[in-house]
Amino acid sequence: MEAIDITKVSIIGKESIHCGFHLVPYILKCVLDTLPSSTYVLFTDTNIAELYLKEFETEFQEACSQYTGGKKPRFISYAIAPGETSKSREGKAQLEDFLLTHACTRDTVILALGGGVIGDLVGFVAATFMRGVRFCQIPTTLLAMVDSSVGGKTAIDTPHGKNLIGAFWQPEYIFIDASFLETLPSREFSNGMAEVVKTAAIWNETEFASLESGHAEIFAAIQTPSVGHAGRSASTRSKYQQLLLSVIVGSISVKAHIVTIDERETGLRNLVNFGHTIGHAIEAVLTPTILHGECVSVGMILEAEVARQLGVLSQVAVGRLTRCLKAYNLPVSLSDPRIANLPASRLLTVQRLLDIMKIDKKNSGPKKKVVLLSRIGSTFEQKATEVQDSVIAKTLSEAAKIVSGTPSRHPVTMSTPGSKSISNRAMVLAALGKGTCRLKNLLHSDDTQVMMSALIELKGARFSWEDGGDTLVVEGGGGDLSLPPKGKEIYLGNAGTAARFLTTVCTLVQPGEHASETIITGNARMKQRPVGPLVDALRSNGSEIKFRETEGCLPLSIAPGGLKGGRIQLAASVSSQYVSSILLCAPYAAQPVVLELTGGQVISQPYIDMTIAMMRTFGVAVERDTDPETGALLDVYRIPRTAYVNPSEYSIESDASSATYPLAIAAITGTTCTITNIGSASLQGDARFAKDVLEPMGCNVVQTETETTVTGPPVGHLRALGYVDMEPMTDAFLTASVLAAVATKEPLSDRVLRDGSVKTTTRIGGIANQRVKECNRIRAMIDQLAKFGVETKELDDGLEIYGKPVEELRQGCSIHCYDDHRVAMAFSVLGCVVKDTVLEEKRCVEKTWPDWWDDLENKIGLKVEGVELASRAESSSSPASQDNTGSVVIIGMRGSGKSFIGQMAARSLGREFVDADVVFEERKKTGVRAFVQEHGWQAFRDAEAEILKDLLGSCSTKHVISLGGGVVESPASRELLKKYGQTHGPVVHIVREIDEIVKYLGEETARPAYGEPVEDVFRRREPWFMECSTHGFVNYTGVLQQLSSNDTAKLRGGSAHDTRREIARFFGHITAQKPNLAPNLGSDVPSYFLSLTYPDITPALGHFSELTAGVDALELRVDLLRAPNAAGLTGPYIPPTSYVMEQLAAIRRSTTLPIVFTVRSATQGGSHPDNAEMEAFALFELALRTGCEYVDVEISWSEKRLRDLVGRKGSTQIIASWHDWSGNMKWDGAEVKEKYRLAALLGDVVKIVGEATSFNDNFTLRTFVDSVSRSPQAKPLIAINMGYEGQISRVLNTTFSPVTHPLLNAKAAPGQLSFKQIQITRHLLGQLPAKRFFLLGTPISSSPSPTLHNTGFEVLGLPHKYGLFETKEVDDSIKNLLGSPDFGGASVTIPHKLAIIPLLDDLTPHAKIIGAVNTVIPLHQENGEHSLFGDNTDWVGIRNTILAGLPIEAGSPTAGLIIGAGGTARAAIYALHSLGLQHIYLYNRTKTSGQGVIDAFPTSYNITLADSLYVFNGPSPSIIVSTVPGSATTLAEGTADGICIPHEIFSASQGVALDMAYRPLETPLLSLASSQPGWNIIRGVDVLLEQGYEQFRLWTGHHCPRSVVADRVWEMYHSIS
Ligand SMILES: NC(=O)c1ccc[n+]([C@@H]2O[C@H](COP(=O)([O-])OP(=O)(O)OC[C@H]3O[C@@H](n4cnc5c(N)ncnc54)[C@H](O)[C@@H]3O)[C@@H](O)[C@H]2O)c1
Repeated sequence: MEAIDITKVSIIGKESIHCGFHLVPYILKCVLDTLPSSTYVLFTDTNIAELYLKEFETEFQEACSQYTGGKKPRFISYAIAPGETSKSREGKAQLEDFLLTHACTRDTVILALGGGVIGDLVGFVAATFMRGVRFCQIPTTLLAMVDSSVGGKTAIDTPHGKNLIGAFWQPEYIFIDASFLETLPSREFSNGMAEVVKTAAIWNETEFASLESGHAEIFAAIQTPSVGHAGRSASTRSKYQQLLLSVIVGSISVKAHIVTIDERETGLRNLVNFGHTIGHAIEAVLTPTILHGECVSVGMILEAEVARQLGVLSQVAVGRLTRCLKAYNLPVSLSDPRIANLPASRLLTVQRLLDIMKIDKKNSGPKKKVVLLSRIGSTFEQKATEVQDSVIAKTLSEAAKIVSGTPSRHPVTMSTPGSKSISNRAMVLAALGKGTCRLKNLLHSDDTQVMMSALIELKGARFSWEDGGDTLVVEGGGGDLSLPPKGKEIYLGNAGTAARFLTTVCTLVQPGEHASETIITGNARMKQRPVGPLVDALRSNGSEIKFRETEGCLPLSIAPGGLKGGRIQLAASVSSQYVSSILLCAPYAAQPVVLELTGGQVISQPYIDMTIAMMRTFGVAVERDTDPETGALLDVYRIPRTAYVNPSEYSIESDASSATYPLAIAAITGTTCTITNIGSASLQGDARFAKDVLEPMGCNVVQTETETTVTGPPVGHLRALGYVDMEPMTDAFLTASVLAAVATKEPLSDRVLRDGSVKTTTRIGGIANQRVKECNRIRAMIDQLAKFGVETKELDDGLEIYGKPVEELRQGCSIHCYDDHRVAMAFSVLGCVVKDTVLEEKRCVEKTWPDWWDDLENKIGLKVEGVELASRAESSSSPASQDNTGSVVIIGMRGSGKSFIGQMAARSLGREFVDADVVFEERKKTGVRAFVQEHGWQAFRDAEAEILKDLLGSCSTKHVISLGGGVVESPASRELLKKYGQTHGPVVHIVREIDEIVKYLGEETARPAYGEPVEDVFRRREPWFMECSTHGFVNYTGVLQQLSSNDTAKLRGGSAHDTRREIARFFGHITAQKPNLAPNLGSDVPSYFLSLTYPDITPALGHFSELTAGVDALELRVDLLRAPNAAGLTGPYIPPTSYVMEQLAAIRRSTTLPIVFTVRSATQGGSHPDNAEMEAFALFELALRTGCEYVDVEISWSEKRLRDLVGRKGSTQIIASWHDWSGNMKWDGAEVKEKYRLAALLGDVVKIVGEATSFNDNFTLRTFVDSVSRSPQAKPLIAINMGYEGQISRVLNTTFSPVTHPLLNAKAAPGQLSFKQIQITRHLLGQLPAKRFFLLGTPISSSPSPTLHNTGFEVLGLPHKYGLFETKEVDDSIKNLLGSPDFGGASVTIPHKLAIIPLLDDLTPHAKIIGAVNTVIPLHQENGEHSLFGDNTDWVGIRNTILAGLPIEAGSPTAGLIIGAGGTARAAIYALHSLGLQHIYLYNRTKTSGQGVIDAFPTSYNITLADSLYVFNGPSPSIIVSTVPGSATTLAEGTADGICIPHEIFSASQGVALDMAYRPLETPLLSLASSQPGWNIIRGVDVLLEQGYEQFRLWTGHHCPRSVVADRVWEMYHSIS
């Protein structure tokens, strides 16, 4: 064997870790020599087997050929599926079965070849197989090499969590063969680097420094193939390999050392958990999409920030750690696009993360523990430190809030971080210079990091750190720059300075062999910021630069070859950075440069002066021309051709723009602040802020050359500034603006504006360039100040701000910071005096002052709290992004029914209704029409917009507001509505056909005529209504109106009922006040939906009652719909929106069952075109707009679109589904787990559909369902197999099983069964035992109840029986019956409704109030017995029939009358009260018993005893319920035979009369009511049916098949009479 060089590391007293390259022969020899056995088993995963198994087999044979012992040992191997899902009980069983089948015994030696998954799983198998066998770790991922293989921790996952079951079991050897890393995917490599960086960060600064500087080499080591076993011996090792190995060995050594001291993780070993407290919590949410190391990387930064917040760690260290992790392509914050773009990232709420952290092994009791770094290379304690939740929460929160008040550290003395401008210039100068320069006080921020990384990428200099990172040592490259590798882009984020400076720097790059251009790019905002004038200047000087995307912006492709030099002309009115960029590079041009600035006013001269001053320090003197005649300075600069000579040390001045914030805080809070390192001698223009802005505002300013002290006037005494030119200090204008917002004192006399402006005006000019900074800052200030109620005006080169007293500023504002550090810090200043100001994106300060929030608290003395923005918290906890008390706004054409629908909606939601037209008339003291005639349309629109604004403010919650039809004509109103809809509450567009509107308007005169054809108005406004609304409601009242007066009362009543019911459903659902979801979903009762596969639903509506029998929802297969013009079309097709809306509305008229809105593409088994994803999502949008209860989306659609949809779903639930049409998915495989995981992240319900090829596939399906359902967070799961073989899975599935019906034209999927078929099969399979039901009472022989219930059972295929049990007494026979195991339920009638109560365990609240029971329900207990519940469904029967029978014109009745005072009267009282009636009259012949009933109810029911039926002491009743026998009433006056029903009882103009008596069919009350116009009637049998349906539902959990049951009952009724 050729020489193999091994580095050994000792662990727990044994040198068992052997490291090197290409070790396979060595490993096998070592194992055979030192671990003798009859059997060697290699376990690996299939990915690795493919790459390396052969080599192991061959080398084993080779090693055995020299074997001299007895019988040759055998070598067997087994590869399992790769991925975390294999690390499970099932995975362990697979391996154990393999060992047992191959007759392995205790002497077996197991080799675990693979990543951490294999190491953990195989280690655990080894730990328990035959009570433990010997094993070796042969890690193949970096993570496994440096972490999981070292330490002896082995484990498997369960659905309850990761690594919950395992053992400590030390391997005999750990063989680290770094050559395996050459095939490892680079993301997996980075994943391991997170652990390497972590170990160095807690333990060894030298190691950390080599990681910081060596990333390019380390990547090179794994990216360059080591041919011919290069690296096996030390002599063949490349320097990259050496570095890689030393990094790995270094990391392992630390871990081995810690493990040796503390094997069982009691103290020291906790240190390796740095980054893991928070990292694990993140991982729990994002696994497995985001890898362990990636989560730990973010965790490390967050935990380092916790340490910084506690004052334990410096920002320098946080900056280094951040930079280092980024260098290995690891994410460092939760806003990293790799994380933020995931749907699951919405679940990363502060509370959720804290909750997960609660169950961390390190915690002591409820206190959380975090490993705190004190500097790079060491920790605060030798263990994890207890940290308060509030500190962690603050770090995790995306937003910050300052607790307003006086700074407790007053007088404040502080310095500010190094200047960003000077830091960037110094880095470029030192990199281009010759010699070594030590940069001190460098700003450690995003921007400077970007600059440094770019210079490293260009190999322009070498960077290292000294003094724990306080000093950056730059070894200048003297202007030698190299091309980055081909395809590598230099990413600059949103760093404007770096982008501008590097544009010229990149022209200096030397040509190379491997690439031909340098590409610089940035984030989306950077790609909008200008760089055009600079590129133009360089191009005309001969450089080759191309815009790769947008003209004038990044990304750029820059050809190498040097800068020509000579005369360069540059337009410098937009950014001084262009000028500095050329100045900095000019000494390296081929010819001396003469830079001439053109284009008028040069912007920000101080920055140009700064660059020139710094160039001088680095040895290059720039000369500026002067006008020979006047001596005035010209915009022409001469730069000699030379090279920079680096000073040995350069101290970076603190940032003057940053200094403006603490100084402004002193100004606004009336306190004192000294900035110790900014004075009048500063290079930076912003140093003038104190003198030029704060002093004239009334502050006392003392400035020396190096120090500035500001003392503010008492709070509220700042002066406005009049005009101020901020051109020399443009970045400070934001700070000035927030002060101006509260500057209410007059300006100094010499600054007063003499142009009639109000006294409190501050006019800031000279800052036009601020429109193209990180954001349009002028606009940003105007918009955000408006939130406080501060008025402003935009000017061409600035803005005006009108100061307002602090007390009048709106509190609790949430400030959007546009990812702009200066916006965030400026508004922090205002937050010091305005209560509860929230800064939304706290992290944006990282650009220039990463520890701003910590300094605010620790150095200035203002407490800062973390705030979780509602958007994130809400979207994860409740789907509704809108607060469900937010008022509903109704818009639509005049005459579309807004007021009518609005009123009904308000009633059903229990809210107040406001009609904007009425408000208008009240306010203007005139009608709309008259107003328009007098003042014209414009004045009307203005007034209308004004009222809209007021209403949305004053009635913003718990109202329903109906607006005038023309409100959308005004752009201002449209904006208001859109904003309202996005942030506050639903805006509902009432959709009504134009023909109906025209018909309706023909009769209308109250409001102004259009003056143009209604159709034109309709066409113009419809798009606006759409644009401004969040929902659409189709109004069907038109259909009602069309019905002639001759229509039967029943039909009129029926339609009114549909409308009322649909309004209640729609508004209840979209406001989330009463989402119309299927109650059985997620309960013990199985739930079903019927798949509607019609091209047009309307012909089926007549059979709906039959079709929907038993089901909980309807699935509308939208992809199968065909509009009339496409009837018969079979290929791919997209139905028009209007058609889908009509279909939905038609279904809604017939049923309130929830709708499952499904669109399947061709490959998903449907007929929506595969390439029309956008159109599919437009349809899903429609589903949300129309308040569909469920939307079924395939998870194969694009994740981004799915996420967007989920974000806006409101109370609609998402069914995330996966259909495997390939037939390849195995229910016990890894794929289905992955699909389930993804679907569970997106959906409220998960649907997975596979295909059964054998009966057994149904059992593996059930095992899968059982295993995932055990998790406490499990989502309801629809899991079925398609095909004939899979039918049984549809029977056993309990969540939303899709069913068909014999009447349907086609099955939606192969193997679909009907509801009835499923129930019959469930019974045969022992899933649905037959039950007995009874009617208890006497006399009952002619009761229709048995017909009612038995018909229902039969239609639904339920095996139950309902019979009569006639007894006079409630005795033991009843008791026995109720206790029998097959008792299913009982109806109770006269005379037992009260007597039954003592036999029951409990009553429902309804039954308790009514005081009588008509339904007994057995509730099953865990011990197999049942308890008995008493309910009363009579009141439901009464209420439902009244709702259905009340004429629509009756509006919302206020008074009702009940005749009689028996048990039924009590149910009637309860029903009337539930309908919201304010007056209930009770009439009974015997007054005392009447009063007795009244007294049994709360006084709030407002029941009065009526003396007569002729007059009522209050409003006339529009609901009349008779509860006395038919024979007890009469129409004949003056007889003693019964209660006489007089005409006067119907004095209300509309109403409904109900007689509870079954016989005669037409009682005196009903016959008289029938002859009253405007009155509808309800018969006793109607109520009986209705209460029976409710009983049926309570007993079986399923809706009773109404129409068939009703037909049979009526048939029976008539047959008896
Ligand atoms: N026991 C411990 O102390 C400990 C510590 C940290 C992590 N872990 C565990 O480690 C597991 C993660 O380990 P991992 O990150 O190594 O993942 P892994 O084992 O899943 O491997 C990652 C992927 O890379 C592939 N792969 C592995 N080596 C390869 C190679 N050389 N070439 C090509 N492909 C290769 C694998 O097939 C797999 O698809 C987790 O289960 C975690 O809980 C354990």
